[in-house]
Amino acid sequence: MKKNITVINGDGIGPEVTAQAVRVLNAVAEKFNHHFSYTYCLMGACAIDQTGNPLPDETIETCLNSDAILFGAIGDLKYDNDPTAKVRPEQGLLKLRKSLQLFANIRPIVTYSSLHHLSPLKESKLTGVDFVIFRELTGGIYFGKKTLSEDQLQASDECVYAASEVERIAHIAFQHATLRKKKLTLVDKANVLETSRLWRRTIQQIAAQYPGVAVDYMFVDNAAMQLIVSPQQFDVVLTENMFGDIISDEASVLSGSLGMLPSASYGICTALFEPIHGSYPQAAGKDIANPIGSILSVAMMLDYFNLLTEANVVRQAVNWTLQNGFVTKDIDPINFYFTTTVGELISDFVLNNIKIDEINRENIELRKSTII
Ligand code: IPM
Ligand code: MN
Repeated sequence: MKKNITVINGDGIGPEVTAQAVRVLNAVAEKFNHHFSYTYCLMGACAIDQTGNPLPDETIETCLNSDAILFGAIGDLKYDNDPTAKVRPEQGLLKLRKSLQLFANIRPIVTYSSLHHLSPLKESKLTGVDFVIFRELTGGIYFGKKTLSEDQLQASDECVYAASEVERIAHIAFQHATLRKKKLTLVDKANVLETSRLWRRTIQQIAAQYPGVAVDYMFVDNAAMQLIVSPQQFDVVLTENMFGDIISDEASVLSGSLGMLPSASYGICTALFEPIHGSYPQAAGKDIANPIGSILSVAMMLDYFNLLTEANVVRQAVNWTLQNGFVTKDIDPINFYFTTTVGELISDFVLNNIKIDEINRENIELRKSTII
């Protein structure tokens, strides 16, 4: 299979984790005889530095003409600490989402038994947690009209949804639910917000077309609590843009590290794959960031290409590193391995250069970091 992939490294740890994900894609290509070619594009703070624009037109053009996009991370402290900045890195990502109409953001949340100890939750709450958040990504308060009064003492952000925007993501979420445990939870604030009542009405109508799927409705404040006290109850969670942003970060603590989580964004043309973590500028250039969120995003990309065996080999490789303690500093702050080492081990596993029973741990240990 031949695929053209646009790679957007972005800012902070973006380039480092993406390099390991590309390495894994190359291993998949070699092992399974595919041909993946890559075009690198700018977006974010690095794009502002080089072109003055967080999303150059050239990047949009290249994305539109590719089969998939692999994206790293966006954001830089110099903008985070300056709320008056007119041009911001995040504008690039938001504009890309809008330009490509990437309306469905899919964030799977799973837990790994070897990482249970990293979560602030009790192990009994974590076993078997396996759900997917479907976050609407191109509407709502993120994209509504924004105002700031002249004296700068009043501001507003409008939240708008059309029923059609709710319907298109709802169908994807319901279809996904039919392939899973057949349970869908709509998270909203229908006791207060008109947009949430629109969501609820629309979902109630669509639910009739999926009689096999049990639907429940949960206010977002309660959902925030339920995610912590009883995360095993969830299967498919569907929600609007900002609620999805917030609860997906919250849900990430279940898996033990934000660095582990992948995501996919589907729209009407090219799909985009990215880890859900941010640019983590403090770790940039140190070779300590966790590349697994990006590598598992590549697994989602392979699923999207319908290369299911390949995707599963990547997931197996990731599980193998976790089970053997070949993990980055976020997971084991004392005995940790570098970003590049974890990427190399996963790629080698995919290529079958590592047999599960024949690990030459000593060689790997040579590149291991220790804290004195
Ligand atoms: C995310 C991020 C973005 C968002 C930021 C970087 C604009 O937090 O993808 O979750 O809020 O959507
Ligand atoms: Mn977020």
